[in-house]
Amino acid sequence: MKRVLSWMVMTGGLMLGASAVAPSFAAQEGLAAPDAARGGTLYEQGDASRGIISCASCHGPGGDSTIEANPKLAGQHAGYLHGQLIDLRQLPDAEAPSRISPVMNPMAANLTDQDIADISYYLSQKTLDNPATATNPALVEAGQKIWRGGIMAKGVPACSACHGASGTGIPAQYPYLGGQFASYLESQLHAFRSGDRAGDRDTGGVMADIAARLSDAEIKAVSDYAAGLR
Ligand code: HEC
Ligand code: HEC
Repeated sequence: MKRVLSWMVMTGGLMLGASAVAPSFAAQEGLAAPDAARGGTLYEQGDASRGIISCASCHGPGGDSTIEANPKLAGQHAGYLHGQLIDLRQLPDAEAPSRISPVMNPMAANLTDQDIADISYYLSQKTLDNPATATNPALVEAGQKIWRGGIMAKGVPACSACHGASGTGIPAQYPYLGGQFASYLESQLHAFRSGDRAGDRDTGGVMADIAARLSDAEIKAVSDYAAGLR
């Protein structure tokens, strides 16, 4: 479902944004209801017969990654994870995926729609037991300012308007950011800015627009602050 995200999301309040999109993947035509147990087995063990590598080998058991190179997935909203796996999936002979990642594109390539629904549901039910923390006290003030109030002069909205005051996001639409690795958040803001993460355009290109207005220093500060949110 395509839809236009406008700045009205901010002025109209959070519920407007939340109610605009229902997690439709659960009711996708031709698919069984998402099965967390099946998704868990596939996530933890992979399926060698179908060329699917264990996701846990990088993202950690239950998605609680402790390796900074691989983002944490535990407790992330199912609708968001579902959308990202579709964006990351490189189908044979298709154009490039809309979210470019040399590591993840081949990992998602062999997942069926049912696999994606099941794994997304499984991960959304997990909890992040080892959240990341902010690491740079010198950046807290600048990061917090952007998170809570945006940067008026540059037309940057408050991150909290969509991702929540404590970084928990809004199911389906706005991802959970609190406790994620700062370096990963930083890398994604750069990817939105460069266009490597173009799947965002399906949701109105809001992150590409925001990232384009942020300097490298601002990206660093707000990423570090978000990692420390609970
Ligand atoms: C070899 C390590 C590796 C394996 C195996 C792997 N991933 Fe990833 N995954 C990554 C990396 C690195 C990223 C960050 C990609 C980027 O920079 O955009 C990522 C990103 C993701 C994201 C996006 C997270 C977000 O917050 O947007 C999802 C979802 C994901 N992986 C799911 C999976 C699933 C499901 C599997 C198993 C089928 C899997 N991954 C296997 C390394 C891995
Ligand atoms: C109008 C709503 C909105 C606002 C305001 C907003 N975001 Fe986002 N953000 C989104 C959406 C939607 C996505 C998912 C984009 C996609 O589908 O790839 C997202 C994704 C992200 C991601 C990627 C998360 C991941 O797991 O890969 C980061 C990082 C992020 N936002 C940071 C920020 C920061 C920092 C700010 C404030 C400067 C901000 N956002 C403000 C809507 C918003």
